[in-house]
Amino acid sequence: MGRVILAVTGSIAAYKAVEVLREFQRRGWEVRVVMTRAATHFVAPLTFQTLSEKRVIVDQFRDVFALEHIELCREADALLVAPATADFIAKMAAGLADDFPSSLYLACKKPVFVAPAMNEGMLMHPATRRNLEILREHGVRIIEPEEGPLACEEEGLGRLAEPARVVFQVLSSLGSRLRGRKVLVTAGPTREFIDEVRFISNPSTGKQGLAIAHQAALMGAEVHLLLSSASPFRSMVSYETFTSGEELRERLKGKDYDLLFMTAAVGDFRPAKTKGGKLRRQGRLTLDLEATPDILAEICSSKRPGQFVVAFAAETEDFLQRAKKKLGKKGADAIFVNPVGRGVGFGQDENRGWLIFRDGSIHEIPPSSKEEVARRIIELVIEKEEI
Ligand SMILES: Cc1cc2nc3c(=O)[nH]c(=O)nc-3n(C[C@H](O)[C@H](O)[C@H](O)COP(=O)(O)O)c2cc1C
Repeated sequence: MGRVILAVTGSIAAYKAVEVLREFQRRGWEVRVVMTRAATHFVAPLTFQTLSEKRVIVDQFRDVFALEHIELCREADALLVAPATADFIAKMAAGLADDFPSSLYLACKKPVFVAPAMNEGMLMHPATRRNLEILREHGVRIIEPEEGPLACEEEGLGRLAEPARVVFQVLSSLGSRLRGRKVLVTAGPTREFIDEVRFISNPSTGKQGLAIAHQAALMGAEVHLLLSSASPFRSMVSYETFTSGEELRERLKGKDYDLLFMTAAVGDFRPAKTKGGKLRRQGRLTLDLEATPDILAEICSSKRPGQFVVAFAAETEDFLQRAKKKLGKKGADAIFVNPVGRGVGFGQDENRGWLIFRDGSIHEIPPSSKEEVARRIIELVIEKEEI
């Protein structure tokens, strides 16, 4: 897949670099670790050496065979400093090169990422703010730290971003197949309220839509996600939430995109009237339902040339026949149909189905993880449209 150099510096969050390494490996990436002397007080080089199966360089005069500070970056796709101390960030900004990781950085011509981790006081100090600004000016990409409990028993800004997020940001910045393209994704179920505490919905969780958003981001797209407030997941890409079909329709208005994946499970009916307060228990209750607006058809009728819409259909039977009918009726460019039912499709980790294009071509996607299904769907669309 790719190769990254992971520079670990002397922060209390250095143990999380182990998880960063693991996350890269899970995605098939090779990791080469280098460390500052201070970092070795927090995690032993042997830990990284064992996990990466590669020699870890700390001392530029003892651990190095030749001009490795220049050679290592030549063979890598990126350099990531995680966690990055205030001290190391200052060194990078000033152009100091008095140890192996800082010499490596200065010689590196590949994309560089920095994930700061420090106490809020250190992070907000004008010197650190200025140094981070200088790094940005030098083209370094900063993976913003998060808010939360810090090691110094304070709450605040400065926690190393979650390892999965660190890796996601590196990989999505390096992705190229959808670079410069705007991808919009809708995900999760709608809720149509009967009264103030009850609603009509479906078992969708938004997992497949999230996977599409993440895979598109990993291919370098600028992704925006419209995610159901009922989804149990949160996303690593920019998102806003919706609850009802009407809210989703409002959020979609005026959104610009090149590629739209309408993965959300939008209900077909809603109560004609929502009762204020709470309906009282009674012997029998008849609900008066009306059809919800056909958001997909609306979107397809107003799309401009060059925009591509992929519809999604969850069916219990006659998959291909029903999907083809929906594709023709709504005016989408392609449709992905997958079987659903009790314990099938909704909320599961795996999915399968068929992607059908307007020209009638059908591509079967065998059972695999939802991330893999998402990757296949996007790749097929890219190939078809030469996007
Ligand atoms: C227990 C402990 C925890 C530390 N945690 C951090 C930290 O999270 N972030 C930081 O910027 N510095 C932290 N420091 C200070 C750095 O270790 C110190 O500035 C060191 O010189 C950094 O060296 P390096 O940048 O070469 O790795 C910590 C120090 C100690 C003793």
